[in-house]
Amino acid sequence: MILITGASGNVGSEVLKQAATVGLKIRAAFQSPDKATKAPAGVETVIMDYAKPETIRPALQGIEKIFLVGPPVRDLPAMEANFIKEVRAAGPKHVVKLSALGGRESVFPGWHRDSEENIEASGLPYTFLRPNGFMQNVVNYNASTIRSRNAFYGCQGDGAVSVVDVRDIAAVAVIVLAATGHEGKSYALTGPEALTNTQIAEKISRVVGREISYVDLPPAEFRKAMLSAGVPAWSADALLDLYRFYREGKASQVTKDIERLTGRKPIAFDQFAQDYAFAFQAEAKAAS
Ligand SMILES: NC(=O)c1ccc[n+]([C@@H]2O[C@H](COP(=O)([O-])OP(=O)(O)OC[C@H]3O[C@@H](n4cnc5c(N)ncnc54)[C@H](OP(=O)(O)O)[C@@H]3O)[C@@H](O)[C@H]2O)c1
Repeated sequence: MILITGASGNVGSEVLKQAATVGLKIRAAFQSPDKATKAPAGVETVIMDYAKPETIRPALQGIEKIFLVGPPVRDLPAMEANFIKEVRAAGPKHVVKLSALGGRESVFPGWHRDSEENIEASGLPYTFLRPNGFMQNVVNYNASTIRSRNAFYGCQGDGAVSVVDVRDIAAVAVIVLAATGHEGKSYALTGPEALTNTQIAEKISRVVGREISYVDLPPAEFRKAMLSAGVPAWSADALLDLYRFYREGKASQVTKDIERLTGRKPIAFDQFAQDYAFAFQAEAKAAS
């Protein structure tokens, strides 16, 4: 049986959906009991909090493989270390960790690298999935101003990023969870092309039939905007550092790992924009 953690999140929910479709035997771990009630029919669920070891132990019973997803917070290494401690105590299980591309070059991927190092030292079999920035971020973080102002904002300048669709990350996760031969490997997951935010704005414009602009702000101004929108200072600073990394063109590499593992090309942004066009239309807000 496979344990899918973070099952309510962007990636975990898609992995859950795709794993259920191919008939894998799954237990889905939710932090929130409310969200657990929305799991696909037939999926076994468990309530688990990384901060509470007594909730981790029952979640691990009868499990052979784990999809490990931590939330994007500065406590991620500590949360995942709590979890790994319980996995070691429960006996060897293959941990497929959702990580991030970038390693020590920026704060967010650095938190993931801390956790990877802990897993490497644990002696457990592991696989690391290291995605670049998600295409879905433009829906989760920018759709609201795209709808209301035909614009989105940031400070990544002309830095191009090989953004990846969460559906492709999930497809790779399911392949790795379903088969052997991936132990000790790390996969760098990118989309098929590196795009600047201006190019992303052009692509969304074509799909929605009106002009959408990307507005680049000085980092200090963007930080102020994030703080006034309620983003905690530690998170705003980590995001600013990520945008610095993007601005420097360091997240533009295009890899072949998705194509090698799935046997097909990764989803292009043009396809993503068509599939999610509704989120950028004014009527989407009323319906959501
Ligand atoms: N966004 C990107 O562009 C990007 C790029 C590369 C890597 N990543 C990494 O990908 C990972 C997943 O991203 P995502 O967008 O899927 O995250 P997400 O939507 O925020 O999902 C995080 C999941 O973790 C659960 N969770 C939070 N606190 C928990 C706790 N104490 N115990 C147990 N579960 C807990 C959440 O449950 P609730 O719903 O109940 O809170 C949720 O299911 C993150 O680690 C992020 O750093 C993101």
